[in-house]
Amino acid sequence: MTEMLVELDNVSMAYGKGDAAVLAIEDVTLSIRKGEFIAVVGPSGCGKSSLMKLISGLHAPLSGKLAVEGKPVNGPLKSVGMAFQASNLLPWRTCVDNILLPLEIVQPYRSKISSNRAEYKKKAEDLLHSVGLKGFTEKFPWQLSGGMQQRASICRALIHEPEILMLDEPFGALDAFTREELWCALRDIQAQRQVTVMLVTHDLREAVFLADTVYVMSDRPGKVVKKCNVNIPRPRDLEVTYTQEFQDIVHELRSMIGGKH
Ligand SMILES: Nc1ncnc2c1ncn2[C@@H]1O[C@H](COP(=O)(O)OP(=O)(O)OP(=O)(O)O)[C@@H](O)[C@H]1O
Ligand SMILES: [Mg+2]
Repeated sequence: MTEMLVELDNVSMAYGKGDAAVLAIEDVTLSIRKGEFIAVVGPSGCGKSSLMKLISGLHAPLSGKLAVEGKPVNGPLKSVGMAFQASNLLPWRTCVDNILLPLEIVQPYRSKISSNRAEYKKKAEDLLHSVGLKGFTEKFPWQLSGGMQQRASICRALIHEPEILMLDEPFGALDAFTREELWCALRDIQAQRQVTVMLVTHDLREAVFLADTVYVMSDRPGKVVKKCNVNIPRPRDLEVTYTQEFQDIVHELRSMIGGKH
């Protein structure tokens, strides 16, 4: 039997209580296999980021069942690494020191880092090398391009070897060429580490290029209106984006999302 890492069973989630409550997610049922790459797409405000907050334990469900690694989620999970649209690197720290930051904050690494700093530093440098940032480890974020900063922020999310990498619009602020470069960097990281990835994106081509499974969410309150298995073998080459098969999947997903004129 395939091992399920994340399981949501009829999960709903709201912000606030009573009359002021805003239902963000309604009756979502989905599961994520270990090593699977899923993408979540849907209109702005439909609950994509909320779904991430739920799965990472940053926000509790209103109803339904949520389990990660077979256990109910009761609080923030350490087995999750996150990166967002803005890299949020600290300008006064070098690249490598930015990547070590989570280890300085979160236990049990916090107690170990002072005696094992060299070992962790080597790990951070290896990660930076794997995303093409060799030679930039001692540079400050403001000495890097936007795409390089995003690469570094993905490294920071991976430093504690999370089970799940959660990426919320990580390439949203980049130009089309840099974005495609980073798709390939992310594809390679996932292939090397076999990490489970949940990618939230507005970009349907990005979702279809990278993911095994794409979930389309409806307008708020967000429900899963479509689960699309992308049956193109992974890892994929950028050439695949020009094929009819790829474009047909993108069109099908587009037709599921409102606001088309
Ligand atoms: N902190 C909050 N307090 C109250 N309501 C919130 C809060 N955060 C989000 N919401 C509501 O929940 C809904 C879902 O928000 P969420 O941020 O998950 O959407 P999203 O799909 O990530 O949108 P976007 O694509 O614009 O990032 C929104 O419509 C918003 O009204
Ligand atoms: Mg969002």
